[in-house]
Amino acid sequence: MATISKISSLLFSSSKPKLIHHILSPSSNLRTLTTASSRITKTKKTEAALAKEKRRTRSDKELDQETIIELYNNNSHLHVPVMLSQVLDVFSNCSLTSFVDCTLGAAGHSTNVIRGHPELKYFVGMDVDPVGRDTAQSRISSVLDDRESSVKVFTVLRNFRHIKSVLRGTGEEHLGAASIDGILMDLGMSSMQVDDPQRGFSVLGDGPLDMRMDPQASLKAEDILNSWPDTEVGRILRDYGEESNWRTLQKKIVLARLEGGLHSTTDLLDLIQRVTPGMKGGRQGWIKTATRVFQALRIAVNDELKTLEDSLYSCFDCLAPGGRLAVISFHSLEDRIVKQTFLNIIKGNEDMGEGESCNSDLRKMIDEIKEKEAWIRQVMPGSNGIILTKRPITPSEDEENLNRRSRSAKLRVIQKL
Ligand SMILES: C[S@@+](CC[C@H](N)C(=O)[O-])C[C@H]1O[C@@H](n2cnc3c(N)ncnc32)[C@H](O)[C@@H]1O
Repeated sequence: MATISKISSLLFSSSKPKLIHHILSPSSNLRTLTTASSRITKTKKTEAALAKEKRRTRSDKELDQETIIELYNNNSHLHVPVMLSQVLDVFSNCSLTSFVDCTLGAAGHSTNVIRGHPELKYFVGMDVDPVGRDTAQSRISSVLDDRESSVKVFTVLRNFRHIKSVLRGTGEEHLGAASIDGILMDLGMSSMQVDDPQRGFSVLGDGPLDMRMDPQASLKAEDILNSWPDTEVGRILRDYGEESNWRTLQKKIVLARLEGGLHSTTDLLDLIQRVTPGMKGGRQGWIKTATRVFQALRIAVNDELKTLEDSLYSCFDCLAPGGRLAVISFHSLEDRIVKQTFLNIIKGNEDMGEGESCNSDLRKMIDEIKEKEAWIRQVMPGSNGIILTKRPITPSEDEENLNRRSRSAKLRVIQKL
């Protein structure tokens, strides 16, 4: 097993140039002061880190050299799937006759699920973005060429909130109500979307204020900024961006309308920079505010939170008994919805602590699952299902070091009874 440090020189030698953050040493007379304050900060950080560790299960999976080169070198121009080996673990013990990927992207997860499950007969993939759907289609086709057994593949350009009608639309009896063995949702944007300035998702490039995942949708970020009621603009920044300076930003955005409005990501970034003048640039300064504002607008443009909540219920309905739904989220608003909805779905969990009154059949089933699947730690049984991740799983340190985007990822899994 090669270690990250050994591999990184090999890996980064031929990849795109990376941004290296230099930390300047304080001058010597400042050093004593900063040492004392940094000790306090360190203690606080350690406490915060410990509290964070308690709320999650960090994956201890190591990445082998072959996987790293395949994911981070050969295909990094597409999209590097986050927590791939953890997702594969979730389904590795399941006999998957049917699998649905709600968020195809570049099919990084799906191609590996298809490769790893020779028993798979039906695959359905959805994405609202034709770029994702087309990339996925060609990558899935090449995986199918290498397979001995055949799979019926349906790749559909639809929002995952319509999962039930998409499955009905296939006309396949085996994809009928409550028949799916595995479902995956890997939320957020793909690298193909973020890296294209014309999509307007990135705080790093200049482009139109678009932010639509679905290029056919009518609402753009520009419409919200230039024509929505000011209180709505404020609500979005506060609720979806969790931005403390939302009132000032709201005022400035509305004032900008008098001068023709905001039309490019640069227009918006300039405004944010002017509103946060006392702060330094970089990740700690206005860029952080900008990231929150962009997140807020993206959530609103794509109606992401309501869509997610509704879709979790629909996906669970589509599962066959024993089927599993795995969801990777990338910010706390999403994760909170996944956590709460899973609790609502299983119902009755308060009366059924894992070690307490849950009935003996269920108890036996849980013991068996845990014995076979080392990745499962604490579970939460209910009358309709079992949450297999009482605490969300987060990426390994290796992965966080290799893929910055994975740092906020949280994986939660539920199994239908
Ligand atoms: C993080 S990427 C998925 C990457 C994929 N798992 C892979 O390994 O390549 C998320 C994808 O979900 C799509 N998406 C986001 N919201 C969606 C929705 N409500 N319905 C369908 N697709 C959606 C995005 O367009 C994007 O392509």
